[in-house]
Amino acid sequence: MNGNHDVLIIGGGVAGLTLALHCADARRVILVRPASDDRGASRWAQGGIAAVLSPQDDFDAHVTDTLVAGDGLCDEHAVRFTVERGPAAIEWLLSLGVPFTRDASPGADYPYHLTREGGHGARRVIHVEDATGRAVLDTLKAHAEAHPSIIVRDDLTAIGLVGDAAGHCRGARCLDASGTLITLMAQDTVLATGGASGLYRHTTSPRPASGEGMSMAAELGAELVNLEFQQFHPTCLYDPEGPPFLISEAVRGEGGRLINVAGERFMPTVDARAELAPRDIVARAIDAEMQRSGESHVWLDVRHLGEAAIRHHFPTIHAHCMTRGLDIVRQPIPVVPAAHYSCGGVATGLDGSTQVPHLHAIGEVACTGLHGANRMASNSLLECLVFARSCAARLAHPEPTSSASLIAAPAGNATIAAERIHAWRQRMRELMSRHVAIVRHDVGLENADQELADLAAEIALAVKRSAPDPALASLWHAVRLARLTVVSARERRESRGLHYNPDCPPHAETPPRPSRRRLGDLETG
Ligand code: SIN
Repeated sequence: MNGNHDVLIIGGGVAGLTLALHCADARRVILVRPASDDRGASRWAQGGIAAVLSPQDDFDAHVTDTLVAGDGLCDEHAVRFTVERGPAAIEWLLSLGVPFTRDASPGADYPYHLTREGGHGARRVIHVEDATGRAVLDTLKAHAEAHPSIIVRDDLTAIGLVGDAAGHCRGARCLDASGTLITLMAQDTVLATGGASGLYRHTTSPRPASGEGMSMAAELGAELVNLEFQQFHPTCLYDPEGPPFLISEAVRGEGGRLINVAGERFMPTVDARAELAPRDIVARAIDAEMQRSGESHVWLDVRHLGEAAIRHHFPTIHAHCMTRGLDIVRQPIPVVPAAHYSCGGVATGLDGSTQVPHLHAIGEVACTGLHGANRMASNSLLECLVFARSCAARLAHPEPTSSASLIAAPAGNATIAAERIHAWRQRMRELMSRHVAIVRHDVGLENADQELADLAAEIALAVKRSAPDPALASLWHAVRLARLTVVSARERRESRGLHYNPDCPPHAETPPRPSRRRLGDLETG
């Protein structure tokens, strides 16, 4: 056992750090943030943060755009709650010194530049050049590390939550770098662990989460919602030899055009909003174009914007592509869809509370109702900020804790070779990428269900025998989440938003229902 903390936050992206900074004046905070979180999803959110900031924009318009992108499955109350709190969240970031890009143009009606992205009917995305996530994260991190009431532990990896006989969450089990088990007890525990894009082979960030937080919450009895809605970002750089690299949607927002191998634009014939249709539509159109042509990518062309505009708006993308031998001023950019964001997650209220007492979830790990069947661009960092702030308000008034006996987590003492764990992970990713990606078919989902069950049975045996191991624990959580995702995808007998199954009619459910999962839905939990 290690200490008794007021608030334990697991995850050091924008959601976790924002919560820490808002809680720390009232309660003692410990934040577990593996050093690799620096490379997590927040850092790669290039485009920006959607919020109603321009006098030309209004809350109703942002709400409507979000509902349309969410394809009938958003919770309108959660959408309005989020949208209305956007401007205050941006004010807070400005007060911390986030260097948002200014708008120096003579007709500007707001001091900071607002870009456009898919689904948005107005310019409402505030940004720091084309590296918003990085700038916000660095600012929050500097403030959190300087705060006297925040302990940051970047040497620990959480492998599971601690539950008790009363069904309350009491903290988390972590491993340090030497493999020693450290149990952190806390009055309140908050998951800010990110999504589940790591279930797939190709992702937009180099170190995506794989649903670990969702699986941990489910282990204590929390409900998981809408897991079948996995978002693929339409434009990841096609660079088989290089690291994953996102080409921000803001590139299309500022006029970038998608073209096929014949050099023709294909989006205008698919959707009236063309390149600025919501992501599910654009990713599907690219996938269809690749199937039709047999090519491994399509092209995103920005040459017509001119060198000055490209360098001004997209310095990071320009520089990265140059290091990969691609001059985007003179050549179109090869792009391909890649797993990017999980719209589903742990069911929460508007204050981040889950159904498990003293367990909260914020950011991508949570499903608040904001995104429905498809998240609109740049609503994710907004959600991180707004729900971290509302969760902090709730945690400012601690509720009585339980003293029931703790539930032990059994472990063996064998060592499982890293190569074996890696091979299992690759097998899971192959299955998910083949059968549960942009287009799913009944037969593929059935195969995935069976093959993932076989894989999970092998891994379960290893988990039982093995000494606690962070890679194995992460894989075990991931494979369970993959299985639950397939159960939800099989159960939805319609195509909606990001869940596209040609064997099912579009929008068959009226009214549409969120899918709800518990760990008990798997025969072997
Ligand atoms: C992007 O810049 O396209 C990614 C940001 C987001 O996912 O909202």
